[in-house]
Amino acid sequence: MYGDTLLLGFPDYRLQAKNLARILKVDFAEVEIHKFPDGESKIKLPAEIPDKIIVCRSLNNPNEKLLELYFIARAARQKGCEYISLVAPYLCYMRQDKAFSSGEIISQRMSGKFISNLFDEVVTVDPHLHRIEKLEEVVKTKRTLTLSAAPLIGNHISLQISDPLIIGPDEESGQWAKKIAESQGYDYMVAEKTRHDDRRVEIVLPDSDVEDRDVVLIDDVASTGQTLMNAVSQLKEHGVNNIYCAVTHALFVDNAYDELLATGVKEIWSTDTVTHPSNCISLASLIADGIAGK
Ligand code: R5P
Repeated sequence: MYGDTLLLGFPDYRLQAKNLARILKVDFAEVEIHKFPDGESKIKLPAEIPDKIIVCRSLNNPNEKLLELYFIARAARQKGCEYISLVAPYLCYMRQDKAFSSGEIISQRMSGKFISNLFDEVVTVDPHLHRIEKLEEVVKTKRTLTLSAAPLIGNHISLQISDPLIIGPDEESGQWAKKIAESQGYDYMVAEKTRHDDRRVEIVLPDSDVEDRDVVLIDDVASTGQTLMNAVSQLKEHGVNNIYCAVTHALFVDNAYDELLATGVKEIWSTDTVTHPSNCISLASLIADGIAGK
């Protein structure tokens, strides 16, 4: 299916896209994006577009990227492209799955529909699915592929430390904490989080013995880092040994990463779904195998 396919990459996700093209043994070309001083984008595609393309772009900082994807997918169709795949290892707007107050738009459904209308296939990693079970409920393409980085994160942890306690800082992270712990036979537990606003959360640890344990905090997304920082401060009060953090999507806005490091966590590990200094787990093979149906 992927012979004569062109993978289109972007400067903000170049290394990951090139690795994916190499493993899939497909041609690679980069989309050129020029930002005009007023903020508009001038986008240039390769002169020749084959029947099948893979657009590889992670959707952190999504607002501009979504519009650019719209232009790219529409232009490719105009050039006769028949099958367009989107590889977006981080899929945006997945957390807005409910109207928390009247009038609030459920942007998970809207952005899912927007993407579904442009692409024949969507490939992503651990989308933040909380109140819905399957991504297909909101992204309805010919093929919607949801991969999980949990086994690779578990494997990475096992190469760094022995017998850690895995902790998910909130209900949503429980699914990943469980998968990672079970893949390696580690103990795990899930804390309770109350979110007051974007940057104020409160975490209550379960009533279990964590003293002197090496703990790995697991979360799918680190954005302001407040969830992890708050969990770290709770754990310190309970006399744990070393604290590590492992996240799938390292958004780490503003100074979040430095602030988390400053809490004294021993190491922070992340996958490369979002380009970040903490990246140490490449997902290129996982994604390539998923695309190839292996
Ligand atoms: C929320 O449910 C997610 O699992 C993360 O815990 C959350 O997105 C992290 O956000 P922040 O880093 O801003 O606390």
